[in-house]
Amino acid sequence: MNKERKLIIAGNWKMNKTVAEGLDLVRGLKIELANVKEVDVVVCPPFTALSEVSKAILDSSLRLGAQNMSEHNVGAYTGEIAAVMLKEFSVRYVILGHSERRQYQKESDALIAKKAAAVHAASLKPIVCVGETLAEREGGKTEAVLETQVSGSLAGLTKEQMTESIVAYEPVWAIGTGKTASTAQAQETHAFIRRLLAKMFDETVARRVRIQYGGSVKPSNARELMSQPDVDGALVGGASLEVRSFADIIRSSI
Ligand code: PGA
Repeated sequence: MNKERKLIIAGNWKMNKTVAEGLDLVRGLKIELANVKEVDVVVCPPFTALSEVSKAILDSSLRLGAQNMSEHNVGAYTGEIAAVMLKEFSVRYVILGHSERRQYQKESDALIAKKAAAVHAASLKPIVCVGETLAEREGGKTEAVLETQVSGSLAGLTKEQMTESIVAYEPVWAIGTGKTASTAQAQETHAFIRRLLAKMFDETVARRVRIQYGGSVKPSNARELMSQPDVDGALVGGASLEVRSFADIIRSSI
């Protein structure tokens, strides 16, 4: 697939996989994806598996991501993980503001913006998630919700930082439900997000930022989604937990 921006496909393991299970998965992926150069492939294990997975993928093109990070650098923040700790394991990407964290941990756009600043300060790359609920889509509020989330969660980034950031559009109603946005819905929404980025930053930045789609991406729908001009990759949950399905998504996207 000849795309303007290099595709980036990330597996969000969420709260799945012990160290042993995670190692099995990445060892399989290393074999299956040994020759893949066309796509940036990222795995995002739980914190407890970062150390071992990091070692296991050293000699491969797989890259490591974390699922969250503290906005603080150090100190009395029980249960939190700082950028410097992630960097010990060669983490390159950090998922921020996933809808599950927005919902269960009540993460706000303002907090996500602080985290994004901390991620960049550590020379890591954030994958900033945005997306509307079913009620919001059905109520015709998709664009208003996205505008609030995009402007709030990316507030304060410089143009250079924005260019290095990744946005993941994940309609909440498509996450883990088996329902995927239609390719037309995905393309239209991604183009809308790109226009927002052009307004907030400029056209050049907007043209360079990679926007992933997330929400029930699987081998059977990946190719069509990735072929849309403004869809630059995927954030994959359930289907990233098995070697076969994650590798098939990547291969079918090339
Ligand atoms: P899903 O999750 O692929 O299982 O729908 C995607 C995500 O939440 O990032």
